[in-house]
Amino acid sequence: MFFTQQLCALDFSGSGREDNCSQDEARFYESGYESELTNNSPQVVLSDEVQQFRNTLETDTLTLSSSVLDYQYENGRRYHAFRQGTYMHPNDENNQLDIFHHVYMLLLNGELYRAPIGPAPERILDIGTGTGIWAIDMAEQFPNAQIIGTVYADLSPIQPSWIPPNVQFELDDAESEWTFEHDHFDFIHVRCLLGAISDWPRLFAQAYKALKPGGWIEVVEFHFPSTSDDGSLNESTAWWKCERLLLKAYAVSNRSLMIARSIRKWLVDVGFEQTSDVQVKTPVGGSWCTDPREKEVGRWNAVNVMEGLEGFTMAPLHRVLEWSPIEVQALLGQVRTELLEQKVHGYFVTHFVIGQKPTGPTTATRTREL
Ligand SMILES: C[S@@+](CC[C@H](N)C(=O)[O-])C[C@H]1O[C@@H](n2cnc3c(N)ncnc32)[C@H](O)[C@@H]1O
Repeated sequence: MFFTQQLCALDFSGSGREDNCSQDEARFYESGYESELTNNSPQVVLSDEVQQFRNTLETDTLTLSSSVLDYQYENGRRYHAFRQGTYMHPNDENNQLDIFHHVYMLLLNGELYRAPIGPAPERILDIGTGTGIWAIDMAEQFPNAQIIGTVYADLSPIQPSWIPPNVQFELDDAESEWTFEHDHFDFIHVRCLLGAISDWPRLFAQAYKALKPGGWIEVVEFHFPSTSDDGSLNESTAWWKCERLLLKAYAVSNRSLMIARSIRKWLVDVGFEQTSDVQVKTPVGGSWCTDPREKEVGRWNAVNVMEGLEGFTMAPLHRVLEWSPIEVQALLGQVRTELLEQKVHGYFVTHFVIGQKPTGPTTATRTREL
C-alpha cells in the first residue's frame, strides 16, 4: 500500500501531467510484475546509461522499490519510464505482439526473415525485440548463433523467463550511440518500430557500422495509413479519422508514421547494396478477402489490430492532441464496430526491406557520418 500511494502521487512525466493510475491499477501491476521481475527475470544486461538511470531512481526515491517506479501508469496502461514519453506504446501488450509475430510469419510463408543470411550466422541483433519472440525463434533455428534482442529500457522486460541459452536481452535506446563493436553482426533485424524512431537514417548508419562486411539488415514495417481497393476506407469512417489523428500526433512528436516507403532509399544512402523491398498486402479482416492466404492473414490481423488499437492510439491522442480518455475510447468504439462489421475492406502494405553491407571497398556514398 505504501508503494502504491507513493507511486500515484509522483509525477513521472516531467511535463507537469499527473499520473492517472488508480490505487487498484498500481496494486495489480505491482503484485504481478514485481514478482515476475524478481523471481524469473531472463538474462538482462543493463547499459551504462540505463544503469545510471536506475541508480538515479534509487537515490532519488530511497524507500521505493525501483521495480515499482520503473513504470508509468496512465489510463490503465503501463508505459516505460526511461526517457519517459518518447515511446508512446504501452509495454503491456505481450499478446498483441505475439499475434503480430504470427501475422508476419504468415506473410513470409512460415519463415522468420527473407534476407539470404546463409546457414550459419554467428551473431544476430534484433533491435526493439518486444516480447523477444522473433529472437527466441531465431535462437532455436540457429542454436550456434548468439542472438541479442534490445528493448527500450522498460526496466522490467516483457520477455519470457525461459529462453534458449543463446539469447540475451539488453535494455537500451537504439537512438543512442551504439556501443556494439563495428563489423560484429551477421544479421540485424528491425521490425515494427513504427512510431519509435525519430531518425531512421541514423539508425541504419549505426546498423551499417555494426554489421560485418557481407552482413545483412532486414527492416519490416507497414506503410501508414492503410488503404482499401474499393474505397470503403474513406473519410466517413472512424478508422480513417483515427489514422489521420495518429499521423498528426506522431508527426508533432517527430516520429513520423509514414516511413515504410523510404526505408530502401535510406538503406542505399548509408551504403547498403543488394537492396530490395518486397511489399505484401496485409488485410485487416478476412471475411471479404477472396484469396485464401489473404483471408487467413486478415483474420489474424484483425485480432492483432483489435488487441493493439487502444495501445497504439491512447497516448498519442491523449498526450499529444489532448483528447480526454473518454473521447479516445468513444472513437475506438466506433473503429471496433467497423472492424467487427467488416464493411470497411482496409489493409496495410507491409514492406520487407533487405540490404547487404558490401564485402569489399564500396563506391556507395555515405550520406551521414556518425
Ligand atoms: C511494437 S514493439 C515490436 C517488437 C518486435 N520488434 C516485434 O516485431 O515483435 C516495439 C518494441 O520496440 C522497443 N523500442 C521502442 N523504442 C525503442 C528504442 N528507441 N530503442 C530500442 N527499443 C525500442 C519497445 O520497447 C518495444 O519492445
